[in-house]
Amino acid sequence: MPVKKGAQIAPAKGKLGVLLVGLGAVSTTFIAGVEAIKEGLAEPIGSLTQMGTIRLGKRTDNRVPKIKDFLPLADLKDLVFGAWDIFPDSAYEAATHAGVLEKELLGKLRKPLQKVKPMKAVFDQNYVKRLSGTNVKKGKNKLELANQLIAEIAEFKRKNKCARLVMIWAASTEIFMEPHAVHRNLKLFEQAMRDNHKAIAPSMIYAYAALKSGIPFANGAPNLTVDIPAMMDLANQNGLAVCGKDFKTGQTLMKTIIAPGLKARMLGLHGWYSTNILGNRDGEVLDDPESFKTKEESKLSVLEYILQPDVYPQLYKDFSHVVRINYYPPRGDNKEGWDNIDIFGWLGYKMQIKIDFLCRDSILAAPIVLDLALLLDLESPMTAPTLYPEHDVFIQLMKLKNTLRHLRGEDLITHLGLEYYD
Ligand SMILES: NC(=O)c1ccc[n+]([C@@H]2O[C@H](COP(=O)([O-])OP(=O)(O)OC[C@H]3O[C@@H](n4cnc5c(N)ncnc54)[C@H](O)[C@@H]3O)[C@@H](O)[C@H]2O)c1
Repeated sequence: MPVKKGAQIAPAKGKLGVLLVGLGAVSTTFIAGVEAIKEGLAEPIGSLTQMGTIRLGKRTDNRVPKIKDFLPLADLKDLVFGAWDIFPDSAYEAATHAGVLEKELLGKLRKPLQKVKPMKAVFDQNYVKRLSGTNVKKGKNKLELANQLIAEIAEFKRKNKCARLVMIWAASTEIFMEPHAVHRNLKLFEQAMRDNHKAIAPSMIYAYAALKSGIPFANGAPNLTVDIPAMMDLANQNGLAVCGKDFKTGQTLMKTIIAPGLKARMLGLHGWYSTNILGNRDGEVLDDPESFKTKEESKLSVLEYILQPDVYPQLYKDFSHVVRINYYPPRGDNKEGWDNIDIFGWLGYKMQIKIDFLCRDSILAAPIVLDLALLLDLESPMTAPTLYPEHDVFIQLMKLKNTLRHLRGEDLITHLGLEYYD
């Protein structure tokens, strides 16, 4: 919705409850990181809201506050965490199992991590074939399960004295699903929930519960979830922000960085082959072809959106794009992603780029969860629902910063530079 320049944004008073669906590698690395920062054991590296700055006015004005000081964002000390998972392990046990963070650090954070115990999940193995767990809700139909979540959310808010809540899906990737007729509007969607229709995935039940409870929702997985008219209507009716389609933090991060550079230089692309090995639970889930297809579709679309083959057919029409994920347990969360990029330049001469990214998936994802939580909580969402997603990280950053300037009544930065001649 459009927001007026310099609109009033309510200060982030009181506690912000961050409700995480899934208490696995990403969620526990996020919670542990926030607790470590609060204790003064670490810096918020990778977090745009905490470390990023925003230039205001002319370059010569020297006004470059940190984003967190420019916006009335919640303070890290006011964050409270809640979660759902199909395993009953606390965040401490789950983080130990995930093996992302060293035992020594986890030992120092044991107390706050042990306090985060997952509520029973809404789960159905038909949607995540490789998992089964015992910490699961029972209900006679999907609407009843959603109502259980709604009651639990209200109880969490009351018990933890939260002023506001946000919900982030950091649970496993569900099987590939396409929009169905029952997603067309809220009435059909709710009836389908009563009928236990298979087009209603667990992630949709959480998102429905969040939006019904007046809570913004972000999707860290490539699931269909809120990308259906029924959910968008509900979000719009309640004036709530929804966002996300996978965290896009590992191999896809590289695509969102490199592809804009190739396009800026008008270099062509014959093909982009990506393969990676990872050995965490996410890798195990993605070893199932149906969950992998959800991930694959989302990853493939990134290059299409950035490179715009329709606008630049000589450069980007019909490039070959292959993505493989191989589950390889010895690597744990420390993924290795290889990219082979076949490009072409002046007179069509061919060149190749090879990337070997030894990354840590959850280390990259955790600060994104923090930024999403804080920005979702900002009272003035500004989105244009009819636009396609923007995956170019540089355009994203420019758009975000200009949106923030607009919200705070500052001049937009156009990079024209005329102001320096005044
Ligand atoms: N790690 C990354 O950098 C990264 C990047 C992009 C996207 N993602 C996505 O984020 C999600 C989380 O990744 P992760 O590495 O933490 O995975 P993970 O397997 O460690 O954690 C996911 C957790 O979700 C739980 N879960 C599954 N279905 C659930 C349900 N219906 N309700 C509640 N809990 C449920 C699982 O039991 C598991 O504990 C995955 O979908 C992954 O594809 C991760």
